[in-house]
Amino acid sequence: MLRYTLFFYFMVIAILPIARSAVVNPKPTTCAAVRSIYHVSQNGYFTLHDSTNKPYLAFCDFQSDPGFAWTLIESLSRTNAATTTFRKSFYYNVPSNECTPNWSNYRLSKAKMSALKQAASSTHFRATCNFDNQNEKGLANRRDYIRVSFCAYNSFFSARNAWICAVVDYINIRGYSCSKCNIPFYSYSNYHLFVDLPQAKVSCGRFNVPDVKSGEDIFGNYVHYHPKFSCTMNSTSTTNWWIGGAFYD
Ligand SMILES: *[C@@H]1O[C@H](CO)[C@@H](O)[C@H](O)[C@H]1NC(C)=O
Ligand SMILES: *[C@@H]1O[C@H](CO)[C@@H](O)[C@H](O)[C@H]1NC(C)=O
Repeated sequence: MLRYTLFFYFMVIAILPIARSAVVNPKPTTCAAVRSIYHVSQNGYFTLHDSTNKPYLAFCDFQSDPGFAWTLIESLSRTNAATTTFRKSFYYNVPSNECTPNWSNYRLSKAKMSALKQAASSTHFRATCNFDNQNEKGLANRRDYIRVSFCAYNSFFSARNAWICAVVDYINIRGYSCSKCNIPFYSYSNYHLFVDLPQAKVSCGRFNVPDVKSGEDIFGNYVHYHPKFSCTMNSTSTTNWWIGGAFYD
C-alpha cells in the first residue's frame, strides 16, 4: 500500500510543474518566469505582475549570466546612491521611478521586491556596475560584481546593526576575485546593504583587495569610495541590484 501511495505522490510531483506552467502561464511575476514562458532571450523591458496581480514594467537581463534571468530592483548613480534617501536598507520602502525603470534613479517598492524574492524562481541576488542596456550582453565582463544565494544570506530585507558573514557565489573587485568565499555584509536604517572592504580584509573569510581606501564602501552606501571601483568611477557611474534565478527552457 505504502509503495503505491509513494508512487502516486511521485506522479503528482512529476506532473505538477507541467500543469502549472500551462495554467498559470499568463502572469509572470519574475524575469525568470518571463523567460520560461515566452522563451525570449534579448534583454529589455517586460511586464511582470506584483502580489496584487497588478502589471508593472521591469527590466530583465537574460544574457549576462548564462542560464540565469535577473530582475532589476534598484539602479542608482553614485551621487544618488550616497544620498540619505537611497542609503536606506532594503528593509525600508523607498520606491523611485517605479513606472519608468531608470538607470540613475530607480528603486522598486518593498512590496514588489518582497514578491520577487518570494517567487519560486528567485534564488539569488547580485550587484553589478554600469549595466548597459544598449549592449547585447549588458555586462562586458564580471569585473566589479557580486552574486549571492538567498540561502547563504537571509538578511536581505533586515536592518541589523551588525556585520553578517555570508559565503558568496562570486565576488570580483577591480579584478581581485574569489568564489565561495566568506564576505561581511552590513545593512541598517541609514545604511544600504553593502560590503566594506577594510572590514572584509580582517573578518569572515578575509577577502583581501590590495589597494583599498580607508572605509571603502562597495555596491552601496558610498560614504567612502574608490574611483577605481567601476560603480563609483564618477558621479554618473551606476550600481545595479538584481533578484534572479535559473530559468529552464
Ligand atoms: C531618471 O529620472 C530622473 C528623475 O528622477 C530624471 O531627471 C532623469 O532624466 C531620468 N533618466 C533617464 C535616463 O531617464
Ligand atoms: C563615468 O563613468 C562611466 C562608467 O563608470 C563611463 O561610462 C562614463 O563615460 C564616465 N563619464 C565621464 C564624464 O567620465
